[in-house]
Amino acid sequence: MQVEKELSEELNVCSDCGLEKVNLEQKFAKFGEYWSPKIVGDLNDSYVKVAKFKGKFVWHKHDSEDELFFIIKGNLLIKLREGEISLNAGEFVIIPKGVEHLPIAQNEVSVVLIEPKSTVNTGDVTGARTVHPERI
Ligand code: NI
Repeated sequence: MQVEKELSEELNVCSDCGLEKVNLEQKFAKFGEYWSPKIVGDLNDSYVKVAKFKGKFVWHKHDSEDELFFIIKGNLLIKLREGEISLNAGEFVIIPKGVEHLPIAQNEVSVVLIEPKSTVNTGDVTGARTVHPERI
């Protein structure tokens, strides 16, 4: 099983150019835990991350980073101090720096995040939910 997975991921690397494409389905199959973003790409000063959410996160803001949430599967509700945004698969929103937000996933949701490398998942609220993302 493990060998099969490695072989299929080898096919993601262009033998001539050395560039690697990312298959999101393969990446999401590699982990199961919620609220623990994984790094899957580097884009200038930002990371591309994948994460699974389920349940309610914590209110927080990022003082100096905009944060992009792009829904791949499921539905994510992002509460703001004024209003809320419901995101379905194929939709994204950019939460501007300084704006408090609370992500809530009624059921499991698969998300791509794009945010500066300095971004901490819980923003200004360090606690049990704070994680340092690993690369997968
Ligand atoms: Ni955030």
